[in-house]
Amino acid sequence: MQSVPEDQDLDYEYGTDLRPGTPRREVPILDLNDLHSADPETQAAALAELDRGFRRFGVVYVKNSGLTSEDLEDFYRVFLAFTDLPREVKEKVSGSDVWFQRGWMPPSTERSGGTAKHMEAYFAATSDADPRTQAMFPQIQAPNRWPDGWPRSDELREKQLAISRALQRVAVMLLRGVALRLGLPPFALETLAYGGPHVTQSTRHLPIPAPSGEEQAVWCEEHTDYNMLSIIPGARFFQPGEIKEFCPPPLDGGILPPAGLYHRGRPSQRHPEGEMLRGKPPEGCISAQVGQSLEVLTGGRYLATPFMIKAITGYERCSVQHFCHVRLTETLFPLPELADDAAVRTYSPPVLAGTYSTMNLVDIGLAPSTALGLEGRSDNRAHSTKNAHAVPEKWSETPCPEIAEIEVQRRGTTGTVPQLRATAKASSAAAAAR
Ligand SMILES: [Fe+2]
Repeated sequence: MQSVPEDQDLDYEYGTDLRPGTPRREVPILDLNDLHSADPETQAAALAELDRGFRRFGVVYVKNSGLTSEDLEDFYRVFLAFTDLPREVKEKVSGSDVWFQRGWMPPSTERSGGTAKHMEAYFAATSDADPRTQAMFPQIQAPNRWPDGWPRSDELREKQLAISRALQRVAVMLLRGVALRLGLPPFALETLAYGGPHVTQSTRHLPIPAPSGEEQAVWCEEHTDYNMLSIIPGARFFQPGEIKEFCPPPLDGGILPPAGLYHRGRPSQRHPEGEMLRGKPPEGCISAQVGQSLEVLTGGRYLATPFMIKAITGYERCSVQHFCHVRLTETLFPLPELADDAAVRTYSPPVLAGTYSTMNLVDIGLAPSTALGLEGRSDNRAHSTKNAHAVPEKWSETPCPEIAEIEVQRRGTTGTVPQLRATAKASSAAAAAR
């Protein structure tokens, strides 16, 4: 991975960490209004900030997102009230049949870095897909579902959808900015997102036992997201049973780093592995970070952001993540304007966004491994005529290169997409030789 010259770091030496005296490099703060200002100089400055943030950190903080802290906390309270319902009530709206892309996801279902996450969640799409898209991708593009008969169901639906739409708007505005900055046709990226399976995940991280060794416990191991952009409006902490009272991120006596979101910046000479930075947007701002799909489309101009969530005993945490995706029928490959020889070599072969999504949902434990063989169903004529001889009899028993690739990702997703692919190719070649 190309490292950033040290002198380029200097611009980011402002802000301080919670622990006094600790210098902190802070990601650029971007005013969404400036990004689309009619004044060319204001817009150019904002586009430069967006570029530096995504290039150096994989993250920008967004001001004037349209989502207030009060709206977010109001939503958290109704979401947490839902999660307090008995399990049998929540199971009625479980998303197990749609790979947990809609409705309730029970604790310890999703994995990151090969470890089950100690959390439960609720998934809702920003808007329902058209029937044709639903028929093509019945799990990933399923209609939303809401708890029937729960008195606060309408409130949950209205608030989660309002947040989802606000965050999707931010994602689209940022994609427009990226297209402008990289010299793409003005709407090139948002066109690819149109009709995509954008989904908002509300999460309750559950209390963890006290760590036994020196290692700090995590709610989420380090990984990268596979979508285009993840928009993260800011978590809240609370003590178990006290879901109406949020508190600042607990400091644990200053012994361990504060709990919460951390992201790894791009390697520099001083930090060859990339510096782990605390993700803490200033008051009134929200975070936006780069996912694998945007990395591929930009030919690696922006790299997917590795991030993790450190935990603390004695507290719970709630958060929202909005995932803005490429439309599932599009091909994931560097856009023509950015597809120089190196990008083509690095991100080949092209892959269908729907296949890439399925692979990743299998990898994080939401879709069953048999999902990777869906195109081999006996009733799928397209597959039976074109690729019949290429389909292993039992997908679950026959490793394919794609599965090898996601196995590599599961072990450690701190590498770039091309690094992961290269390692996957090597491991599948080794498997074939055995
Ligand atoms: Fe993630």
